Amino acid sequence: MSLDTALNWRYAAKRMNGQRIPEATLERILDAAHLAPSSYGLQPYSVVVVDDPALRERCRPAAFDQPQIGECSHLLVFATWETSGAAEVDALIRLMARERGLEEASLAGYRETLKGVVNGFASAEARRHWAAKQAYLAMGMVLAAAALERVDATPMEGFDPAALDAVLGLEARRLRSAVVVALGYRDEDADRLAGLKKVRWPRERVIARVA
Ligand SMILES: Cc1cc2nc3c(=O)[nH]c(=O)nc-3n(C[C@H](O)[C@H](O)[C@H](O)COP(=O)(O)O)c2cc1C
Repeated sequence: MSLDTALNWRYAAKRMNGQRIPEATLERILDAAHLAPSSYGLQPYSVVVVDDPALRERCRPAAFDQPQIGECSHLLVFATWETSGAAEVDALIRLMARERGLEEASLAGYRETLKGVVNGFASAEARRHWAAKQAYLAMGMVLAAAALERVDATPMEGFDPAALDAVLGLEARRLRSAVVVALGYRDEDADRLAGLKKVRWPRERVIARVA
């Protein structure tokens, strides 16, 4: 299936039928998050996979009782690092040296650049905002990958991050939820949006070519 066909097929399902996604399919969708590009390659987030239906039910009140939370197969929570990032820069440099067969010393300049990035934010909020942008990019990759697998994926910002983090114990992992995706299969009978025409601004309003 072409990407274009997949993107026209997908929509943000409001109701799902509880069917479980096969493990191999789920892994392929998660690969898209893993391989997402990010600023300086820092990937300053984790994707927390919530599988257990009972735990998802406990998450639902934090997401204003949206039914997809309970009816999906897996809930993906894109959560930004709540750390300064300095230790992660050192770890990334070590990893890069190992993976590419380089001396760590040869990456000293890059290390300093990355330290400058993570130490350069005016506030923790500014750093979180930057990290969230990277997480959203991974989310976009997941939405496209899911559509290619004919798996529904609903992006959701309609939740209280503090409440969701409390249920999932994310603070202890030094993570903070930014956005979530409910992955599963649409319930065509229950979902008032299923089968409705997709609404987008006219293409020329979104895509502007300059001469
Ligand atoms: C960042 C973001 C947050 C969203 N939050 C919610 C949400 O909390 N609940 C929901 O049902 N849909 C949510 N949506 C889905 C949008 O309403 C939907 O993507 C948009 O109306 C376009 O429709 P389509 O994706 O079905 O084509 C969100 C979408 C995005 C990208």
